[in-house]
Amino acid sequence: MARILITSALPYINGVKHLGNLVGSMLPADAYARYCRAQGHEVLLICATDEHGTPAELAAAAAGQSVADYCAELWAIQKRLGDGFRLSFDHFGRSSSERNHKLTQHLAGRLADAGLIEEREEEQVYSNADGRYLPDRYIEGTCPNCGYERARGDQCENCTKQLNPTDLIDPRSAISGSTDLEVRKTKHLYLKQSAMRQRLSDWIDSKKDWPLLTTSIARKWLNEGDGLQDRGITRDLDWGIPVKRGDQTWPGMQGKVFYVWFDAPIEYIAATAEWADATGQDDAAWQRWWREDLGAGDVRYVQFMAKDNVPFHTLSFPVTIMGANFDGEEPWKLVDYIKGFNWLTYEGGKFSTSQGRGVFMDQALDILPSDYWRWWLLSNAPEGSDSDFTWGGFQTGVNKDLADVLGNFVSRVTKFCRSKFGEEVPPGGEYGAAEAAVVAELTKRLKAYEANWEAMEIRKAASELRAIWVVGNEYLQSAAPWAAFKEDPQRAAATVRFALNLVRLYAALSHPFLPDTAEAMLAALGLEQAEWPKDIGTALDALPPGHAFTVPDNLFAKISDEMRAEMEARFAGE
Ligand code: MF3
Ligand code: ZN
Repeated sequence: MARILITSALPYINGVKHLGNLVGSMLPADAYARYCRAQGHEVLLICATDEHGTPAELAAAAAGQSVADYCAELWAIQKRLGDGFRLSFDHFGRSSSERNHKLTQHLAGRLADAGLIEEREEEQVYSNADGRYLPDRYIEGTCPNCGYERARGDQCENCTKQLNPTDLIDPRSAISGSTDLEVRKTKHLYLKQSAMRQRLSDWIDSKKDWPLLTTSIARKWLNEGDGLQDRGITRDLDWGIPVKRGDQTWPGMQGKVFYVWFDAPIEYIAATAEWADATGQDDAAWQRWWREDLGAGDVRYVQFMAKDNVPFHTLSFPVTIMGANFDGEEPWKLVDYIKGFNWLTYEGGKFSTSQGRGVFMDQALDILPSDYWRWWLLSNAPEGSDSDFTWGGFQTGVNKDLADVLGNFVSRVTKFCRSKFGEEVPPGGEYGAAEAAVVAELTKRLKAYEANWEAMEIRKAASELRAIWVVGNEYLQSAAPWAAFKEDPQRAAATVRFALNLVRLYAALSHPFLPDTAEAMLAALGLEQAEWPKDIGTALDALPPGHAFTVPDNLFAKISDEMRAEMEARFAGE
């Protein structure tokens, strides 16, 4: 038994997430956690909302709410949707929590003690009409390079030229449209990431088992230009974590907050502390997951995220973690394995909130139960490359894998048994060569399935699971108890007994992908749980003759062509 800490990248607070966000971190983190728990490991699965930054402020303003109210409301919505998708977080926290305020300020103080923080004076655009400094991308104007009129202060979308806000012709606030802008001098804190370049590089080099997607992104940033850039970690905003050094004021930093990307990953730790608080435990309970000197030495820490998050998790956050231990006094846990994902596209293009293109988590649950989505998304997870959600592909996946294979198997065996033997596992007959062949094949496939999970190869795990279901169908097809019943009822009884045991086995193995369906299958068998099989032969002898069951409702309904067409039209966007 091992101890495994799993975190999912924190979804931004501003708005309901779409299926691409879901499959890019939260859903695979959940499925992996479920697998690990089934193996008997001690697992802690942590997620939270990422609540700071300008987009949250603007979304609140657009909703006519205070940022605090807006975030509280959106947190509750995201939490409810996460529950709806059966995301089994031990805690779903908030980066705006008191715990994160304290810990972020503490770690910033440690980095300052380490000599890794430096003050720099900068020029920044202030909008008199908005009463605030404007981040680069909230300044719009005409591109000096191509004349495009809606270029942003960080980049022109039209010609892709990188810009400074002061390069723009006729600059205006993207928030209010006001041109009453002025350039002011303001001080910010910079984290001297460049000082850690060699340590980070050695650390990345030591991760021989990390996928290329992860290490190549880290290497690119380490080696590009003059190497790792120092990074501004403060902002002139109202909403965020006030810049303090521990609980001391930080001279010259009044009215400033930490940059969202500085405090967000720290929330992984703070959310674990929130979990301890919420479950009435003391500090030692969360520290044993995060502090190597306080019990986390044997923890394996796995992070799930989309690829745009990789630089922050391979470089920036590790600088915080390593830097805070400059004197050996605070050995915080570094990540052991990063599972990165590519993008999920929608019908060949981008998901878009503003254009209503693609399916969002709330809509998905209104349309079909979560297991339908979980299965398609996980079995098509964008691992090696991007993957594309299409309603046609979704229809095929649901109808073929879930309805025709798993659902059909469970329905056939339970209904046949009820009609010939009643609602009890039938006695009589003995397992023979056909059953031995199934045991041999499933033994091999179980090994492969477990190996895929251990390697976090989620698509491969899904296709192995599908193959495991197919074995049952093929067995039932060739053993044909409905034919055998007339001549050899004993033989038919043994077949049905074996097949009912397969239902139980499938419930255990399907659980990481299909938690509700697994539960429904077990409920039909009158069981509360089924342990992960250690030995297939033993597992297929678990339900004895006389064990009562009921025929479950159809596990899956097929998606019709009409429904597909209707959905295609409904989510196509403007
Ligand atoms: N909110 C970010 C995103 O959706 C992810 C933050 S992950 C964190 O891209 F760990 F930094 F919080
Ligand atoms: Zn341009």
